[in-house]
Amino acid sequence: MDVFDAIRSRRSIRKYKDKQVPWDNIVTIMQAGKYAPSAGNLQNWKFIYVKTDEKRKAIADACLHQEWMEIAPVHIVVVADPAKMERYYGTRGARLYTIQGCAAAIENMLLTAHSLGLGTCWVGAFDEDEMFRILNLPEEKIVQGVITVGYADEAPEPPPKYRIEHIAFAEKWWGRVEFPRTHLGWWSAGNKKIVDESKKLLKKAGKKLQEHVKRKLSKK
Ligand SMILES: Cc1cc2nc3c(=O)[nH]c(=O)nc-3n(C[C@H](O)[C@H](O)[C@H](O)COP(=O)(O)O)c2cc1C
Repeated sequence: MDVFDAIRSRRSIRKYKDKQVPWDNIVTIMQAGKYAPSAGNLQNWKFIYVKTDEKRKAIADACLHQEWMEIAPVHIVVVADPAKMERYYGTRGARLYTIQGCAAAIENMLLTAHSLGLGTCWVGAFDEDEMFRILNLPEEKIVQGVITVGYADEAPEPPPKYRIEHIAFAEKWWGRVEFPRTHLGWWSAGNKKIVDESKKLLKKAGKKLQEHVKRKLSKK
């Protein structure tokens, strides 16, 4: 699965099979989180994996009673250390860079799990105090999100996403260009792939034709 296919086909999964996730998959997913970019490469995150029934139930309750979470055999809780970022980048680091780095780590983990045939859901709705209590967190940390992981027991329809023209502007806010064929409505990574492959095929066919003509001429 190439990266774009993984990004496009990933879905939030809220129903899971009663099947354990191999330990090395859990480690690979956390490794993927580890390789995410972070401001100054400070990596001010920790990933707490939770496998016990009791604790997963407590987390599901803390996530505003999202009971479906209990069924997922693994939860990975992403916890940030904003103080570390603040030492280097002040308030902007503590607030913005910390959240952005953790979000990048979470997305890396979702995509890696998907590429391993696993389903996930990014859960951001939770009672912070409850999470601190359940996970014995020191005061200065911040819970950034919970990822449920397991084998999907549903195949949700892709939710609607805006067309690229609605969200991509040229050069300035609301900037529009409509050059024929380079217009974004026509362009997509999928189309580019088809064009690139067609070019390769044409090149190959051209070469074969040349060889054929050469052979015919040499016979004359
Ligand atoms: C920051 C954030 C918080 C989210 N919190 C929840 C949540 O608490 N519960 C939930 O079921 N889904 C949650 N989601 C998942 C979104 O509902 C889901 O990504 C969205 O509906 C699009 O569906 P897709 O992931 O299949 O593309 C969250 C996603 C993000 C990025």
